[in-house]
Amino acid sequence: MKVLILDSEADAIDRAAEIIAETLREKPDAVLGLATGGTMIPLYEALRARHEDGLSFAKARSFNLDEYIGLAPDHPASYHRYMREALFDHIDIDPARAHLPRGDAPDAAAEAEAYEALITDAGGIDLQLLGLGRNGHIGFNEPTSSLTSRTRVKTLTESTRKANRGYFDDEAQVPRFAITMGVGTITEARHCLLIATGAAKAAAAAAMIEGPISAACPASILQMHRRATIVLDRDAASELKLSGYYEHVHPGGQDSAFDRGGA
Ligand code: PGA
Repeated sequence: MKVLILDSEADAIDRAAEIIAETLREKPDAVLGLATGGTMIPLYEALRARHEDGLSFAKARSFNLDEYIGLAPDHPASYHRYMREALFDHIDIDPARAHLPRGDAPDAAAEAEAYEALITDAGGIDLQLLGLGRNGHIGFNEPTSSLTSRTRVKTLTESTRKANRGYFDDEAQVPRFAITMGVGTITEARHCLLIATGAAKAAAAAAMIEGPISAACPASILQMHRRATIVLDRDAASELKLSGYYEHVHPGGQDSAFDRGGA
């Protein structure tokens, strides 16, 4: 794992945006795995700014991690809508190549299977962006998700429903189920980039990086990944025991002299 600790949330966002931009500059037709949530809002603003400065998504393809079951793409709290408003409407990505699972599909299990096949047909994901749940989830893979799981229907925990309550009029409206890429789907990406900011993520970040690899903390599977980059601000890094070492290897969250993408 490459653990990059940045002084502030703004610096962490900027570092993550630069990693995504570098990927697109090296491979303009990259397949990007995208994420939603509060953490990603400033990140997508940073990508929009880079687009205004010439970064193109025209040849790229994208696959979002997840979508709530029962929400149509135009529902104000759907991830389809989030992605259009936060990113897609502001950049030059071809909407036909920007994929999310359909939450209103008549057969959610079949939709999940078809989504997994679409990712495979696209040649797999080059760079998968990830947020971190306070309970250690990635995508909507809640604790005890199989570490080899594929895209499927998951039941959300009450803590996740509460964390996302702000996007809905009241708690009763927060969906109970989602279609999510599996942990195995996620870790097949050639590069995983997880970003976590704020003290509320400190315990989950410590469990992910320094705890045992366990389905109790699905993000901990990134310890097994050949190329996982974890970008944290100081608050999210505050419970790490070895932060001095990570900062020694990557001062200021920058690449080390020997860096060739491995971790
Ligand atoms: P957040 O969500 O960015 O809204 O905290 C992260 C997640 O649950 O994956």
